[in-house]
Amino acid sequence: MPTVKEILNTMEYGPAPEADSPVREWLEHHRDGFRHYIGGAFVQSSEGGTFRVMNPARDEPLANVAEGTARDIDAAVSAATSAFPAWSTLPGHARARYLYAIARHIQKRERFLSVLETLDNGKPIRETRDIDIPLVARHFYHHAGWAELIETDIPEHGPVGVCGQIIPWNFPLLMLAWKIAPALAAGNTVVLKPAEYTPLTALAFAEICSEVGLPPGVVNIVTGDGATGAALVAHAGVSKIAFTGSTEVGRIIRKATAGSGKKLSLELGGKSPFIVFEDADLDGAVEGVVDAIFFNQGQVCCAGSRLLIQEGISDRFLDKLRRRMATLRVGDPLDKSIDMGAIVDPAQLARIESLVQQGVTEGGTLWQSDCELPACGSFYPPSVFVNAEPASTIAEVEIFGPVAVAMTFRTPEEAVQLANNTRFGLAASIWSENIDLALDTASQIKAGVLWINSTNLFDAAAGFGGYRESGFGREGGREGLLEYLVPTIEKSLLPAAPRTVAKLDASPHGGLKTAKLPEIDRTAKLYIGGKQARPDGGHSWTVTAPDGTALGEAGIGNRKDIRNAMETAVKAKGWSGQAGHNRAQVLYFMAENLSARAGEFADRLRSSGHSGEAAANEVEATIRRIFYYAAWADKFDGRVHATRSRHLTIGLHEPFGVIGLVCPDEAPLLGMISLILPAIAMGNRVVVVPSPVQPLSATDFYQVLDTSDVPGGVVSIVTGARAELSKTLADHDEVDALWYSAPRSEWAAVELASAGNLKPVWTLEGDRTDWHATTTGQGPRFLRHATQLKTIWVPYGE
Ligand code: NAI
Repeated sequence: MPTVKEILNTMEYGPAPEADSPVREWLEHHRDGFRHYIGGAFVQSSEGGTFRVMNPARDEPLANVAEGTARDIDAAVSAATSAFPAWSTLPGHARARYLYAIARHIQKRERFLSVLETLDNGKPIRETRDIDIPLVARHFYHHAGWAELIETDIPEHGPVGVCGQIIPWNFPLLMLAWKIAPALAAGNTVVLKPAEYTPLTALAFAEICSEVGLPPGVVNIVTGDGATGAALVAHAGVSKIAFTGSTEVGRIIRKATAGSGKKLSLELGGKSPFIVFEDADLDGAVEGVVDAIFFNQGQVCCAGSRLLIQEGISDRFLDKLRRRMATLRVGDPLDKSIDMGAIVDPAQLARIESLVQQGVTEGGTLWQSDCELPACGSFYPPSVFVNAEPASTIAEVEIFGPVAVAMTFRTPEEAVQLANNTRFGLAASIWSENIDLALDTASQIKAGVLWINSTNLFDAAAGFGGYRESGFGREGGREGLLEYLVPTIEKSLLPAAPRTVAKLDASPHGGLKTAKLPEIDRTAKLYIGGKQARPDGGHSWTVTAPDGTALGEAGIGNRKDIRNAMETAVKAKGWSGQAGHNRAQVLYFMAENLSARAGEFADRLRSSGHSGEAAANEVEATIRRIFYYAAWADKFDGRVHATRSRHLTIGLHEPFGVIGLVCPDEAPLLGMISLILPAIAMGNRVVVVPSPVQPLSATDFYQVLDTSDVPGGVVSIVTGARAELSKTLADHDEVDALWYSAPRSEWAAVELASAGNLKPVWTLEGDRTDWHATTTGQGPRFLRHATQLKTIWVPYGE
């Protein structure tokens, strides 16, 4: 009688296909073509255009779908706009009931949706059935909960308005859920455009919306390609754009929305490191690689595509990996025992093939499993490049296929350096049995999601999203919900006040001839790296009081000065690593030193037009504001999320790094401090452009900084022409975020320039913010903009 081991060694898999007849019947029912879902009805494209949707595993057409035009988008935005007043004012409990009903209907149709997703996308039924669709239901349940709780748990916030949502093809229904569930919970209405390769589950979802009686226009789905997406981005009736897809298109959308005032969140590409230390459980880590890069055929934005292996175990690890790869089965995705299905489209397959070819041409050593591939359809074998050069194309570019790129490191420092050697920052996976080493590494990696001894874990309760060119904004959890909310205070700011725009005369001492000289002349300087520095161009301008009296001079900084300031800010990273308590002490000291000079600062404000009382009030309010943020320095805590059992899923607030701050003209001292303090309290270093109207309070502030133990480079101040200096900050690749307090007419230029490294830009309408009011001039919203969320998943148990 054969032993069990012999049976296991010889056993062949028989086909175990999931039945697809209910889905085939549904497709047959729609043989005449699928239509857009607008205002609760299924409607044809305004120009009657359609496009074909294919099953990539069999190269067979599945359906014809309406091609969305700008007119269709317009109709959908109108429907969403009409639905908004009633939907946004429904009690949260009523919205919770709708979301709950959607979750239940998805659960009832789980099998149907799994098969449909597999047919449309090519991903294995094992994944759609066990991961995608259950997570879709989970998102609607979780956000039904948020709809119930928002009014009490996140008070004083309201919905943004009509949201335009554009999603990719790699997790079609899951991405829809990530976008629609929080938007609806928060009281927004939406127009969603699915990816052109995979629109079918979104249309099945539209049927669910009708079934549950969702009010017409709350959800609208317009199918089409990039041009349809671009029309949605451009539509003036849309208040927020949420996009997931390639970094290239993310950049186009950043530019297209520049200056529009639309809220924006971008979830873009990645080249995430998968780090294996020599003390890792190697068999566990090999399974991790399978989940990291062969899950969904590697078409995952956070795929662990760069394997960083500690040198001593590299050969052994790669050997184990190759053996495991040889057992992976690639084939009919409807077969329940298949590991890898089809690539979404022949165009994506060609892209993978071409990048792999380039890797080989550049000298990479490729190992591919010799598994049997189906005769037709878009399939690609599991692949790994060994000993890749960190600077090679395949180590830098997102391949978006089942291709891992392996390289080695010697020390933990080198692992961190290699991990961060990318323009992306979406995720990272760290494998070590030493929890200290794993968490220390996690703290140093610039990425939004860190998995310890695990990979590709997602949950509705945990924020997901990137650092750097992987985008900004989060999906899931409280942070994800906040992307669909606006603080009510921002909607009710003061009406615009008239402003004086300063014209700088770049000639040395220009303007002084006609003005009365101040009693003591002062040499205008900038403040860079903890020292006063002459402006590079050697020019200054005369700052005058409203009555024309010359008050003094301010240096005219230029690009070079900003670059110098940035250099010192980048070097001052020790500030970001300090404990909040230590930072608080420095801030309190700053308040103390300002208090000692309160009279001088009040005089300065008086001379620039404030009444005596207003000047004293502004100085006093500034001292209080410093205290306020010193208090927050050690209190803006993260959270531990309730995701799944035996996991600590920790959400940490991390500083961005270097933030550019462009200050308001109003409240020249208080306005500037209201930007500097939250940023540095959270551990950022800042390069500040003070108001060109009244910059002298800023230059006086150098003295306070000098005497307050603020390390050099933490705060640099460059006075000068706002437009030029802001653009330089927006352009600069090492500025990680930008706060821009200026009239809306000036936003477009900086938002356009920010598309280079896709830094988040927070535009504040300076002249509509009452900086004195504690409701508008300070608060956690400033702290939120000063931090980015890092989610660390730590499993526990044997
Ligand atoms: P893509 O970024 O072009 O498409 C994503 C979505 O954006 C689709 O719905 C598309 O119709 C829409 N879109 C395209 N151009 C647009 C525009 N100008 N304005 C508004 N919407 C627009 O991604 P694509 O071409 O499907 O894939 C190309 C590469 O992008 C992949 O090989 C992969 O590297 C990356 N990618 C990354 C994803 C991620 O989750 N990070 C998802 C999909 C693709």
